[in-house]
Amino acid sequence: MIHLDKVFYSVIHSGRRLPLLHDISLQVPRGQAVALLGPSGSGKSTLLALLAGIEQPEQGRIHLDGVELTALSDDARARFRRQRLGVVFQDFHLLPTLSAWENVALPLQLAGVGEGRTEALQLLQQVGLAHRCEHRPAELSGGEQQRVAIARAFVHRPALILADEPTGNLDQQTSRQIIDLLFDCAAAWGSTLFLVTHDAQLAGRAQRALTLLDGRLEPEKCL
Ligand SMILES: Nc1ncnc2c1ncn2[C@@H]1O[C@H](COP(=O)(O)OP(=O)(O)OP(=O)(O)O)[C@@H](O)[C@H]1O
Ligand SMILES: [Mg+2]
Repeated sequence: MIHLDKVFYSVIHSGRRLPLLHDISLQVPRGQAVALLGPSGSGKSTLLALLAGIEQPEQGRIHLDGVELTALSDDARARFRRQRLGVVFQDFHLLPTLSAWENVALPLQLAGVGEGRTEALQLLQQVGLAHRCEHRPAELSGGEQQRVAIARAFVHRPALILADEPTGNLDQQTSRQIIDLLFDCAAAWGSTLFLVTHDAQLAGRAQRALTLLDGRLEPEKCL
């Protein structure tokens, strides 16, 4: 499902090349749930941006779901992201002017497959928010907003879900519920889950834990 082959990524900062990811090679089979751990600044969000096709590596190849992401144009990568990936962020990234159901339906509307209201309501029901479907993000709690974001990530049945510290802004109990929801949805729909987290306990729900240190993947230990 995910195949990274010797990926190297750097940015130019103050006129100098600053390497952020070194020689990242990784294979994740379809349906596996993977947690990515590592200290702040180790490159976790950067790696996720490469997997989402937001950034392109300088060297190496990335294949997702049989497609070589590194061979696609910027437009084709954006299309791939919209159609085949679901992304969940720490700060939810909901559109403030849209209601909960309209936020969830957005991936379907962007794909041109119709209004998406029925599907959105079904997903909101699954995350326990059917009664909040007409609420705008500002009228929802943090945990509720993240449940809307999870419903949106899954509504178009993506093969791969990328989540960057989805519980970073939530209390411990809500975090546990959100993580359970993410893992349960991924298992129910057979989606591969790639989850960045600081919390080793939350990572314990994954089948596999990876650690980044200074832009390099540590050798894996069996869980
Ligand atoms: N555009 C950029 N220019 C310069 N440095 C950058 C740029 N983007 C990221 N960095 C640096 O790259 C490193 C990795 O950043 P990244 O956001 O991937 O870390 P992270 O592991 O997600 O950290 P956190 O746990 O705090 O979210 C950081 O040291 C950051 O300062
Ligand atoms: Mg980060």
